[in-house]
Amino acid sequence: TVLVVDFGAQYAQLIARRVREARVYSEIVPSTMPVEEMLAKKPAAIVLSGGPSSVYEEGAPRLDRKIFEAGVPVFGMCYGFQLMAQTLGGTVDNTGAREYGRTGLHVSRPASTLFEGTPDEQAVWMSHGDACSAAPEGFVVSASTDVVPVAAFENDEKKLYGVQYHPEVMHSTHGQQVLEHFLYRGAGLTPDWTTGNVIDEQVAAIREQVGDRRAICGLSGGVDSAVAAALVQKAIGSQLTCVYVDHGLMRKGETEQVEKDFVAATGVQLKVVDAEERFLTALKGVSDPEEKRKIIGREFIRVFEQAQAEIIADDGPEVAFLVQGTLYPDVVESGGGTGTANIKSHHNVGGLPEDLEFQLIEPLRKLFKDEVRMVGQELGLPEEIVQRQPFPGPGLGIRIVGEVTKDRLDLLREADAIAREELTAAGLDREIWQCPVVLLADVRSVGVQGDGRTYGHPIVLRPVSSEDAMTADWSRLPYDVLAKISTRITNEVRDVNRVVVDVTSKPPGTIEWE
Ligand code: XMP
Repeated sequence: TVLVVDFGAQYAQLIARRVREARVYSEIVPSTMPVEEMLAKKPAAIVLSGGPSSVYEEGAPRLDRKIFEAGVPVFGMCYGFQLMAQTLGGTVDNTGAREYGRTGLHVSRPASTLFEGTPDEQAVWMSHGDACSAAPEGFVVSASTDVVPVAAFENDEKKLYGVQYHPEVMHSTHGQQVLEHFLYRGAGLTPDWTTGNVIDEQVAAIREQVGDRRAICGLSGGVDSAVAAALVQKAIGSQLTCVYVDHGLMRKGETEQVEKDFVAATGVQLKVVDAEERFLTALKGVSDPEEKRKIIGREFIRVFEQAQAEIIADDGPEVAFLVQGTLYPDVVESGGGTGTANIKSHHNVGGLPEDLEFQLIEPLRKLFKDEVRMVGQELGLPEEIVQRQPFPGPGLGIRIVGEVTKDRLDLLREADAIAREELTAAGLDREIWQCPVVLLADVRSVGVQGDGRTYGHPIVLRPVSSEDAMTADWSRLPYDVLAKISTRITNEVRDVNRVVVDVTSKPPGTIEWE
């Protein structure tokens, strides 16, 4: 395991992903963890991340120098680099010499461990206020910039390395290569970690954990729960039952996709609950977004619990486990990584009844999203499930501005299917994060179709690009693709006479309209 020591900001997660892209397993630990505890994990190497602090700041995170004396190879980046320089007796100046963004790096030791085979001049991404002016004793300086004399240093004997910039971001053109040089050449690691290993490891662990008891899993149609279920199914076969609640707010073809494609690919035992009537009845007359969300959430839990109770009530072996698709970023963000799972409500597809004691099976809790997709692919799940874009739990219920009715849902389903079809045909699926299609059911506008006046509803297209849905920008879709979607929707979907595009970033807008 490579430990990535997190000094704050978002860099650690990206570094951990990059290490895994180099096919070396990595885990994130907080910089506040005592060094003894880090070393007890027997890391093969340690990477010190960047962070928002200055080494001169009062209360800035520090590092016990024992970390550099344990014989474990260490690679410091940005703040981690400066901390390393300072701790080992180099000089870090608070000169006010700032560098932000793309910077030219001059490599002075082209044959060094870190830089071999990379160009003498390369673009790197900088973000710092302090600068290292003298490397610690025993280190050679292997690169500089116009502003910082020491932008990289290396000590092959002690296997300690550092760079002032951020090799993990894509703007550092040879960053991945430099990181891999550290891992393979500096630390002597072999690139042999694959998602295949994860599957074997998890299958064995789940079999051991479950024994001859049973597990249940709520399927939402999303990637995470599908891959988690497929993995557990591989481990324990018919001892797993999946529950899928069809609330009638799904998009066109989605329920069928779960019922047919997912079952065909995995052979999973699936209980589909048709609850459309129940949801529509509960939503009758409601147009307030929060109220809709509450109703959908509440009904969902009720239906899921009922299905669960039915499974438990049959006379099979004890149902002791609940499968959840919790991912590594959730684990890191909730301060964990080790220890027992804490149940966060937004991870539960159905929510847990209070008086039922389940043990959780979370086979994806060490994986990033792209790795989950790879595992899914390797398990033979169809592309349409594995590459699915995010879709909200409350479904189309929060994409109809106004009251939700069967009629309006059908209409929105048609418009949404057309938009998805055309975006896929134009090869844009990977480029956009997601594209909600929204029906403004409470708005009407005048139009003219077939020589007659119409008074119909607008459809909103909301294509966004994003990395994590926390922030987003509106996607600049090609005009001809927009034109095609608009023409088709207004021609093929009744009561729609206008298509508009949402050009608002997040913030201030959210991705969904409700
Ligand atoms: P907003 O609208 O808050 O959406 O910018 C951020 C991301 O979350 C998705 N979303 C949800 N996902 N249950 C979910 O599982 C929900 O209630 C929910 N609401 C929004 C949204 O599609 C976007 O990807």
